[in-house]
Amino acid sequence: MSKKETKLQGWNYSPAPESKSGASLKKQYDLFIGGKMVKPTSGKYFKTINPATEEVISEVAEANAADVDKAMKAARKAYTGVWSKMKASERGKYLFRIARLIQERAREFAIVESMDGGKPIRESRDVDVPLAANHFFYYAGWADKLDYAFPNRQAQPLGVAAQIIPWNFPLLMAAWKIAPALACGNTVVLKSAETTPLTAYKLAELIQDAGLPEGVVNIISGAGATGAAMVNHPEADKIAFTGSTDVGKIIQKAIAATHKKATLELGGKAANIIFEDAPIDQAVEGIVNGIYFNQGHVCCAGSRLFVEESVKDVVIAKLKHRMASLIVGDPLDKNTDIGAINSRSQLQTIENYIRIGLDEGADMFQTDCKLPSKGFWCRPTLFTDASQSHRIVQEEIFGPVLAVISFRTIDEVIAKANNTPYGLSAGVWTDKGSKIFNLTTKMRAGVVWANTYNKFDPVSPFGGYKESGFGREGGLHGLSAYVQF
Ligand code: NAI
Ligand code: MG
Repeated sequence: MSKKETKLQGWNYSPAPESKSGASLKKQYDLFIGGKMVKPTSGKYFKTINPATEEVISEVAEANAADVDKAMKAARKAYTGVWSKMKASERGKYLFRIARLIQERAREFAIVESMDGGKPIRESRDVDVPLAANHFFYYAGWADKLDYAFPNRQAQPLGVAAQIIPWNFPLLMAAWKIAPALACGNTVVLKSAETTPLTAYKLAELIQDAGLPEGVVNIISGAGATGAAMVNHPEADKIAFTGSTDVGKIIQKAIAATHKKATLELGGKAANIIFEDAPIDQAVEGIVNGIYFNQGHVCCAGSRLFVEESVKDVVIAKLKHRMASLIVGDPLDKNTDIGAINSRSQLQTIENYIRIGLDEGADMFQTDCKLPSKGFWCRPTLFTDASQSHRIVQEEIFGPVLAVISFRTIDEVIAKANNTPYGLSAGVWTDKGSKIFNLTTKMRAGVVWANTYNKFDPVSPFGGYKESGFGREGGLHGLSAYVQF
C-alpha cells in the first residue's frame, strides 16, 4: 500500500482529488458595486485562506462604512430606476439566466467552495451548487406569479435588502437570499462571511455575464463592522441574516423601532430521535449525515442524539463502527467524508467544547484516523452518557461532535428534545407513521425530518422557533419575507 492510500477497514482508496485548475481565481477581488468591480474606499484588503492547507488563496476588499454607503445607494438607484419598474416576467428571465449559468459553471463553483471553506467536494458538488441553481430556478418561476402566491392582494417589493451570510454554505446562502429578493422586485447588497468570500465574487462575475442591470445585486466583503454598517444604513428596508444567535440579537436591537423588516436564521441544537422500531442501519447513516458530514458546520446539524434505551447499545456500536470508516482529509478528494474545519477560531471553539464535555464527565469516543499535518481538522467525536444539563447538550458547537442521551417514553423524549433555547430542526426515526405525526406536532422545531435527515428543496420553507430566529426561507413562505401589501 502506498503511503498516500487510505487504509479503511480492509478497503484502500487511492487519492482522487479534483484539480484546482478547474477554478480560475484572481489574486485580488474588489467590491462589486453598481455592476462593476470597484476598489474599496478603505484601501484595505484581507486574505482568504484554504483551511485545509493554510495557504492564501486570494485577498478581498474590506468594505468600510463609505463602501457600504456606495453599495446601498447603488441598490436604491437600481430599485427606483429599473428593477421595481421592470415587467415581472422580465425579472424572471434574468433569474432563469443566473440559474442556468450556475449549472454551466457548477464544477468551478464546487472547487472554489471546497478550497475556500474546507467542505468536501462531494458536498459542494452534489448539494451546495445544484441547490443554489435550483433556488434561482424556483424563484424565477414565481417572479411573474406573485398574484397567485398572494391572491387578491397587491404584493409590492420592500425596496433594498441588506443580506448578511455565514461561512458554512456560502454560495447556497447567497442564492437563498438573492433569488427570492429579486423575484419580488427588490434589489440587494450582500455581504459574504470573512472566511469564505470567493464564491460570492464568482457569483458577481456570473451576474455581470447574465447582463443583470447594474446595481440590482451588489456584493461586498468584510467582517462584523461591515455587516453592522449595512444593518444601520438608512437605505436598508430589509435585513436578511444567517449566522450566530448573538449577532442576531444585536441586529434585532439595532433595528428596533425602525421601519426595517428582518428575517433571522440563527443557531440550532437539533434532536435526532431514534426509536427501537426504527430501521437501525438507515438511522445510523442518518446520524452520520446529520452531524459528521460537512464537519458539523450546519445550523440544523443533528447534534443531540436521543436513542430509545432498548436499542442504545446496538445503535452506539453500529455508529462507532461507521464512524471508524469516515475519511477525514483533503476536501478536494472525492472520497472525503469530512473536510477541514472552516477556520482556526472555529476549531478552537470546537476543541474547547470537547474539553468541556470531558470535564462534565461524559464518555468520549473519537476515531483514530490520521489527520493532515497542516490545516484545521477535528476527528469525528461522540459523547455517550451525556445529560440534559451538560453544556455540550445545551449549546451550539458547530463541529463534528455528537452527544447521546437515552430515553424510555415518548413524552420523556419530547420534553427532553424541546428543552433547548433553539428550535430549528429535528429528526425522527421509527417504523410507525403515527409516532412521526405525534412528534411533528409536538416538536418545537421549524423542520422535522422523518426517516431521513438534512434533506433540502427550494419548495420547502426553512427557519426556526425560539432563539433559532424567525421568518422562513424557501418555498412560498420565502416570498412573503420580501413583499409588503
Ligand atoms: P457570526 O454570526 O459572527 O457571523 C455570521 C455573519 O455575520 C458574518 O458574515 C459576519 O461577518 C456577520 N457579522 C458579525 N458581526 C456582525 C454584526 N455585529 N452585525 C452584522 N453582521 C455581523 O458567526 P461566527 O462568528 O462566524 O460563528 C460563531 C458561531 O455562530 C458558530 O460557532 C456557530 O455556532 C454560529 N453560526 C451559526 C450559523 C448558522 O447557520 N446558523 C452560521 C455561522 C455561525
Ligand atoms: Mg477561506
